[in-house]
Amino acid sequence: MSIQHACDVLIVGSGAAGLSVALSLAEHCQVIVLSKSNIKEGSTRYAQGGIAAVFDQENDSIDSHVQDTLIAGAGLCNEEAVRFTATNAQAAMEWLINFGMPFDRLDDKTDSQYHLTREGGHSHRRILHAADATGEAVQVTLVDAVLQHPNIHIFEDYNAIDLIPSQHNQHYALGAYVYNCKTKHVEVVKSRFVVLATGGASKVYQYTSNPDVSSGDGIAMAWRAGCSIANMEFNQFHPTCLFHPEAGNFLISEALRGEGAKLVHADGTAFMHKFDKRGDLAPRDIVARAIDYEMKRLGQDCMYLDITHKSNEFIIKHFPNIYRKCRSIGIDITRQPIPVVPAAHYSCGGVVTDQHAKTDLDNVYAVGEVAYTGLHGANRMASNSLLECIVFARAAALNIQDNLQSVHNNEIISDWDESRVTDSDEEVIIQHNWHELRLSMWDYVGIVRTDKRLQRALRRIELLQQEIHEYYSYFRVSNNLLELRNLVTVARLIVLCAMQRKESRGLHYNLDYPDLLPEAKPTVLSPPRNS
Ligand code: FAD
Ligand code: SIN
Repeated sequence: MSIQHACDVLIVGSGAAGLSVALSLAEHCQVIVLSKSNIKEGSTRYAQGGIAAVFDQENDSIDSHVQDTLIAGAGLCNEEAVRFTATNAQAAMEWLINFGMPFDRLDDKTDSQYHLTREGGHSHRRILHAADATGEAVQVTLVDAVLQHPNIHIFEDYNAIDLIPSQHNQHYALGAYVYNCKTKHVEVVKSRFVVLATGGASKVYQYTSNPDVSSGDGIAMAWRAGCSIANMEFNQFHPTCLFHPEAGNFLISEALRGEGAKLVHADGTAFMHKFDKRGDLAPRDIVARAIDYEMKRLGQDCMYLDITHKSNEFIIKHFPNIYRKCRSIGIDITRQPIPVVPAAHYSCGGVVTDQHAKTDLDNVYAVGEVAYTGLHGANRMASNSLLECIVFARAAALNIQDNLQSVHNNEIISDWDESRVTDSDEEVIIQHNWHELRLSMWDYVGIVRTDKRLQRALRRIELLQQEIHEYYSYFRVSNNLLELRNLVTVARLIVLCAMQRKESRGLHYNLDYPDLLPEAKPTVLSPPRNS
């Protein structure tokens, strides 16, 4: 018999989104938070630049934040979602600050104004940050708070497999089957509400700024459970990841360009002004494409980011982690330009939600990078995503609170059925398919696409999907198999969305359709039920 756990609200994911929902609900009910790895691991802790919110009331405004987001989103944002987010930004940040979030101030006094930095697409300084390691500070702040709350129960090393459908109501989930990575057994978590906060899917690409956990699990789970998914073609490539054999997937924050750093060729020639009048601070899609274009034109492995015009003190004070990391591999950023390349960074699409973060299922919510709220449109503006996590986490929690008394879960849940599977005898298939999938996505569904490349990708993905499905039916689940199954699902959704879009807009650039269509429409995919 499977071990069964029960709670009011099951939250899948312990990043900014999941922990913010947990903290907003904990006074009202019992919450279980699952984390596929340790509680701290996820994209949140790697965030560098900061969080966008209008704090400079004199020079900046919510209207301006809205306008900048709409422009970056290339006509595809849902204006209501944008206004909702920008309007609630200050309250969301104050909520975070109340838990002790140490945003940098103009000077070291605790009551001085916050230091606001700038990033691409923002017409004002409006990025709150904790030096160049904002995400680490957010994650630590939230983790410290949840660990103190008796109603929040943290399950580390638990990988959610699938939502459990109700036998009586197809719009209702009874909880989730979850894989205990330590015991290697599948357990049941029964709940009245489920919140998917599993982050993005950038690991579907060979090169990514994201940590290992970003395998699109929540998107794949929601799709299998019957939720609509939208705008998956808009996977954002961050223009500047460190290019070095020992660098792993280390990001060089856009905030460097916000403070005047320039993209240059190996000989020091700046080039962004040739591509966009906003130069180095153009939105990310434009900058990533420009770097890709220059690398291919010149046959170079990388471009360079130069901040050497700033003083040593300034660089070390504002970018201590980037300085240290580069120094550790022999690059002194106060004197040398930094080698950079674009890498997959952020999933703008995801599970379709409304302004309460509710999905198509009545008691299932999606918050954070897993969700498609309409905020980002065809291209996310820098530092709007941590903001989205917190604003929508609070909205989801309010809605769950309002419905707590009306949702019950008395159905009997079947045990996980392992009667027809055995232990895997060919783990190599998983490794092989994993590499093939991520490389195909990088080569055929990357920064610049064509119809032919997309068709090639789809053929390969569908073959891989068939193999992975067979493997899943015959063998006991493992962490790698579960992630691969989700990645292949997400890869297919990305390609299907990309094929439907017969234009180039924002992050989706197809050489066969270089122009914009007159009408901007999201790409919404509705799943076949029981797929
Ligand atoms: P995550 O923080 O990724 O957390 C996902 C959680 O879900 C993890 O706990 C994971 O273990 C868990 N999980 C996943 N699948 C499962 C499963 N099947 N079962 C159980 N648990 C599961 N945004 C900004 O706004 N500003 C920035 O400066 C910024 N910089 C960034 C820098 C980097 C290097 C990266 C990678 C991203 C950056 N972003 C930034 C984007 C931002 O960090 C993310 O969009 C945001 O942190 C996502 O938060 P989340 O809570 O949705 O997901
Ligand atoms: C960065 O610091 O460049 C990342 C910011 C973001 O992804 O929002």
